[in-house]
Amino acid sequence: MRSLIDILELSVEEIDSLTDTALDNIDHPDRYADACRGKQLAALFFEPSTRTRLSFESAMLALGGQTLSVPGAALSSASKGESIADTAKTVSCYADIIAIRHPQDGAALVAAQSAWIPVINAGDGGHHHPTQTLADLLTIRREKGHFDGLTVGICGDLKYGRTVHSLIAAMSRYAGVRFVLISPEALRVPDYVTDSLKQKGIAYRETPSLEEAMPGLDILYMTRIQRERFFDPALYESLKDSYILTAEKMKLARPDMCVMHPLPRVNEISVAVDSDPRACYFKQMYNGKIMRMALILKLLSDSSEPVPRPTLYRHLRCVNPRCVCQTEQELAPAFLRVPGEKEAYRCLYCEMLAQ
Ligand code: NCD
Repeated sequence: MRSLIDILELSVEEIDSLTDTALDNIDHPDRYADACRGKQLAALFFEPSTRTRLSFESAMLALGGQTLSVPGAALSSASKGESIADTAKTVSCYADIIAIRHPQDGAALVAAQSAWIPVINAGDGGHHHPTQTLADLLTIRREKGHFDGLTVGICGDLKYGRTVHSLIAAMSRYAGVRFVLISPEALRVPDYVTDSLKQKGIAYRETPSLEEAMPGLDILYMTRIQRERFFDPALYESLKDSYILTAEKMKLARPDMCVMHPLPRVNEISVAVDSDPRACYFKQMYNGKIMRMALILKLLSDSSEPVPRPTLYRHLRCVNPRCVCQTEQELAPAFLRVPGEKEAYRCLYCEMLAQ
């Protein structure tokens, strides 16, 4: 049995195969209409969602399966203090596969450790969002035809934007990909992301200027400033309109640049850009549904063993206040050693460096 918590748990070949399935589904939806007959997907969404939740549910229904869900954290036993682990065990009795979204970093991993059915991470705090990345990768494949050698600009909230972290991880595996990370100083990508880019020798640069970056990009991935992750509302107010992509700014871009956005947008892409043929964000939503169909099918038919984790270190404490290990009942600290470093460890759940 396999879950999907981090996009890197899928090999490049597996992602190719999921995209092949999704593309086949576009031409032959009838081949998939009964593929999950009798199976049930539980949608456990403890954070707001429109696209991800509906696309998971719509994906399962299009596969001939059924869905069940709690309407939100406030109406589930989580509001009574039930742990994520116990919730995952409960749902394992009623469904065949779980899609979970939760505000805490590492929550989906905790669910997967306790569930005895596959768990899909539909967004854990500001950490990862692997199925959005599947939507993004299919969009890039359909728009560009390849991944190698692309220059990918990612703009906005690179600190808390979980889609950003998963996309960088996934795109880093293709030859010659370069990243231009466009953000205000306060919203730069976490160090676990840049450390991994450095370790793999991947070309990237950071800049605060969208205008300066635009002309060199094959892809511009815009993101929303993640208001719900800020501890300081005044800081959010000062940063919220850092970047607004307008039709005027689009004149700086290559004629074949692809504009992407996981959505929802708040203000960061002007509505006038929607009619530009380079705007791909609405296509991304549809691609999300068919990639989620391919993923559900794969996980429900995959009998392989999960990849064993490397040695865990237990003698440290996580300092990230948003990490699931701060609140989950009796969750033992678990750290991984940073490769190539002598005494550096990262939390298994949120990847923050132990201090
Ligand atoms: C994203 C998310 O939830 O992380 N939305 C999505 O799933 N398509 C991006 C966001 O909320 O800004």
